[in-house]
Amino acid sequence: MAQRDILIVDDDRQVREVLHQIFLSAGYDCRVARDGREGLEVFRAEHPPLIVTDLKMPEMTGIELLRAVREADADAAVIVLTGAADVKTAIDSLKLGAYDFIMKPVNVDELLIAAERAIERRQLLIERREYQELLERRVVEATRDVASAYQQLQETYRATLEALGSALDTRDVGTEAHSRRVHGYALATAREYGVPETEMAELGHGVLLHDIGKIGIPDAILLKPGPLTDDEWRIMRRHPEIGKSLIERIPFLRGAVPIVWAHHEKWNGTGYPRGLRADAIPLGARIFMVVDAFDAMTFDRPYSKAKPFDVAKAEIRRCAGSHFDPAVVESFFRVPEPLLDEIRRRSVEP
Ligand SMILES: [Fe+2]
Repeated sequence: MAQRDILIVDDDRQVREVLHQIFLSAGYDCRVARDGREGLEVFRAEHPPLIVTDLKMPEMTGIELLRAVREADADAAVIVLTGAADVKTAIDSLKLGAYDFIMKPVNVDELLIAAERAIERRQLLIERREYQELLERRVVEATRDVASAYQQLQETYRATLEALGSALDTRDVGTEAHSRRVHGYALATAREYGVPETEMAELGHGVLLHDIGKIGIPDAILLKPGPLTDDEWRIMRRHPEIGKSLIERIPFLRGAVPIVWAHHEKWNGTGYPRGLRADAIPLGARIFMVVDAFDAMTFDRPYSKAKPFDVAKAEIRRCAGSHFDPAVVESFFRVPEPLLDEIRRRSVEP
């Protein structure tokens, strides 16, 4: 129904006719009903936005009609008409949701102003609610967009790191998926050691990128089939420093610097490039040393056949305290073998 539709409810035929004429000449499209029950039927069928109703009527009173209408449509605008004797009931009607009450005998101007005001107020309430709902929908959508953008960014970031890691693997004598295995072993060992979950991401990045500095090593040295000369070794050993200077300028990779820079340091200080010793070596790098050695021994390489897990573990135990941090070695030994197997199996799947 259009906005200026009105339902007039009054049991007095004369009053009904007068009201009908007043609203008709003010441009309203009118329905009339003789009591509350008839009024409710018309309302249910046509949902007029505005109802003007008498209070005292047979069958169903104005108050009962008001209740039923508001229950069916909380936006329905109802104006009640009341005699002087019934002001208390009229005030009660306001508490039940009537928009206004008009005293009989009716003043035409007063009635029309009240009707206009009721329609405007109803419209405002509807618009305000729709605006509120729109805002709530927008907030939900915006939150979802931000969450999915963040998720995508994280995903891209992870994929980039993995791609970089496996590109390095491919270039470095074909140890395909080495980074991914070492990554899995390192995180499992770190958990056994008690590294907080909040530090796992940076540790993982450092492990994936540990050899990124090999980008700066010439192919003739990096891919040389035979043993390296002393000069070639000197160049090869620069890769941790090259890696450090490559990534320390990239804010989201800065957390990987300690492992990249220190991944060839040994517990007893005989490693390179800085000859760090014991706790001076960042924990991530100490973990990397152990799991990298384990992977090197348990996976076929062009120059050596894979050893069984127990042989590799015995070798690692032998080097605890010289090459490796003994506490890290213990943590690594606590990682269940089925988990090591699973990490290994996943690294070779496409
Ligand atoms: Fe390296």
